[in-house]
Amino acid sequence: MPPRFGSEFREQLGELLAWRRDIRHFRRDPLGESVVAELLAAAQLAPSVGNSQPWRFVRVRSADLRETLAEHADTEKAAAGSGLADPARRAAYASLKLHGLREAPEIIAVFCDEGAAEGGGLGAATMPETRAYSVVLAVHTLWLAARAKGLGLGWISIIEPDFVTALLGVPPRWRFIALLCLGHPEEPDMVPELQRRGWQARLDWRTNVSER
Ligand SMILES: Cc1cc2nc3c(=O)[nH]c(=O)nc-3n(C[C@H](O)[C@H](O)[C@H](O)COP(=O)(O)O)c2cc1C
Repeated sequence: MPPRFGSEFREQLGELLAWRRDIRHFRRDPLGESVVAELLAAAQLAPSVGNSQPWRFVRVRSADLRETLAEHADTEKAAAGSGLADPARRAAYASLKLHGLREAPEIIAVFCDEGAAEGGGLGAATMPETRAYSVVLAVHTLWLAARAKGLGLGWISIIEPDFVTALLGVPPRWRFIALLCLGHPEEPDMVPELQRRGWQARLDWRTNVSER
C-alpha cells in the first residue's frame, strides 16, 4: 500500500521547504556515521536520467585536504570580490561568509560520472547535461533529508572544478558538481542569509513564471 500523506504532513513539508536554508555557520560536534549513511541513502532515491544514478560522493576525511579546500575557497572568494566594480558591493561581498569548510563536521565533494554505464545512455543522447541535473537532484534530496533531521547543508561553488578534481584524485570523467558542508547549524533562520545581509532577497514566485 502506498503511504497516504495527510494535511499535517503537507504542512510540515511546507515548513521543511521554507526552513531548508543554505548553512555556512556550523557547530563542530560530529555527526554519527549512521546519520551520514542515512542521508546518503536518501540521496540515492533521487530521480536520474535513464536511472543512471551518476552521482559520486567523496567524503573528505583528511584534515589536510579540508584545509587545502578551505584555503582555495578563501582565495577564490577574494579573487571574485576584487572583480566587483561598485566599492559598496565589494565591501558587502567581502563581509559575507561563503563556506563552513573549517567548522562543518562532514565535507562531501559531489561529482557526476559522465561515463556512467548504468542506464545505458537512455535519455541523455540529446541532453547529456541531464546527468549533471540528476546529480543536483541528489544533492537537493540530501539537503532536505538533512534539514528534516535538524541538520544544515551548505553548497560551495567558489572553487575551481579542476582544482578539486585533481586534489581529490578522482577519474577525469567525473565532473565536479558541488562541495558540501554538513553539520549542525549554529542558528537556523527562516530567511536566507543573503537576504538578511541585504545582498539578494528571495523573489515572489510569480516573478519567475510566464505564459505563452
Ligand atoms: C548551485 C549553488 C551554488 C552555491 N554556492 C554557494 C557558495 O559558494 N557559497 C555560499 O555561501 N552559498 C552558496 N550557495 C547558497 C546560496 O547562496 C543560497 O542557496 C541562496 O542564497 C538562497 O538561500 P537559501 O538556500 O538559504 O534559501 C549556493 C547554492 C547553490 C544552489
